[in-house]
Amino acid sequence: MKKIFVIFGTRPEAIKMAPLINKLKETGIFNLKVCVTAQHREMLDSVLDLFKIKPDYDLNIMNAGQSISEITIRTLEGVERILLQEKPDIILVQGDTTTSFSASLASFYHKIPIGHVEAGLRSGNCYSPFPKEMNRRLTGTLAAWHFAPTESNRQNLLNSGICEQTIFVTGNTVIDALYLVLKENYRFPIPLLNKLDTVNKRIILLTVHRRENWGLNMRSIFCAVNEIIEKNPDIELIYPVHLNPVVKNLAYEMLGANSRVHLISPLDYEPFVNLMAISYLVMTDSGGIQEEAPALGKPVLVLRTETERPEAVEAGTVKIIGVEQNSIIKSTQKLIDDRVEYEQMARAVNPYGDGQAAAKIKKILIDLSS
Ligand code: UD1
Ligand code: UDP
Repeated sequence: MKKIFVIFGTRPEAIKMAPLINKLKETGIFNLKVCVTAQHREMLDSVLDLFKIKPDYDLNIMNAGQSISEITIRTLEGVERILLQEKPDIILVQGDTTTSFSASLASFYHKIPIGHVEAGLRSGNCYSPFPKEMNRRLTGTLAAWHFAPTESNRQNLLNSGICEQTIFVTGNTVIDALYLVLKENYRFPIPLLNKLDTVNKRIILLTVHRRENWGLNMRSIFCAVNEIIEKNPDIELIYPVHLNPVVKNLAYEMLGANSRVHLISPLDYEPFVNLMAISYLVMTDSGGIQEEAPALGKPVLVLRTETERPEAVEAGTVKIIGVEQNSIIKSTQKLIDDRVEYEQMARAVNPYGDGQAAAKIKKILIDLSS
């Protein structure tokens, strides 16, 4: 029995690994172990609970206000200890976090082949998204197998000199996860969300957390939000604020007094997806949300200057609107006022897969192991 070690540490990695873990468990042909670094704590645990995943190892590395170097060192040390003990045959990592890169590096040092889930996304700018673009490139360099969500991700890998036979286009497991938690007539566990008047009011869902937006960009985004809300009395804005203290402190300072801006704790994945489903539009700098919202037919305004996920932009449901206050206000107001523009963007498109990505990766792993 081949021993597969799945290693992850943050909320988005957990969401995207959960469908794969559960598919691999079903097979009964792998000795599957889960190791979390817990680069995130509460935000990770809520996903583990939802998908009923009990890690075999928990490195519990998170510190308040941690630096990227700290995450790297603690992950390298912790993962190495476990690799020496368990001697797995294959490592699986996901995406572009510092956990993914550092776990890959530790595995490479022990000559254990790495499968990289969600490989091949590229912005072309190594400082944006930071440090994700570099984490993803480095993980790709270390990996033996590359599970690319889309054809253009495959092309990026070929352009980076990755051998064609090691790349597999699978779709993104985020769509598998989304379909698992989306419910009709969903009742939220939070009274505020059940009380939302979606008939007379329009809901904007906001998330902002990216490191490259810290500081002036984030101030400019929040100023724009206040102005948009002031101009549009029929809008209620919900912002589940990321727990990173840099983000949280500024969000409460700049938006806390606005009565139609509802700052709430990060939502568990199930209520978050179902909130997205009843929203009018989404404003975000998140990566995963750019993949999920198009599948739900929700227009996405991306609060960044570039994206490593161009597919939904090409399909017309995602727009990159930058971080400058006036351009954010202008683009958002257009989508609030212009029905035609809105309808053009509010079409369900699914460039990131059909909900079968985990099944495809499972089959590839079975073939590679036989
Ligand atoms: C990390 C990833 C980023 C990813 C994001 C997803 C790195 C360097 N960054 O950024 O690529 O987009 O996760 O959300 O890999 N915190 C808590 N509880 C939690 C989670 C975070 O209190 O459950 C606080 C802690 O103070 C922690 C801080 O947030 O030190 C930052 O967490 P960290 O993982 O370093 O950075 P993120 O901004 O979350
Ligand atoms: N998400 C969530 N609760 C929230 C905000 C986001 O469950 O309050 C989910 C979202 O649906 C997506 C993922 O978290 O699947 C995105 O995580 P994040 O934006 O933190 O990271 P990124 O995708 O930018 O790396």
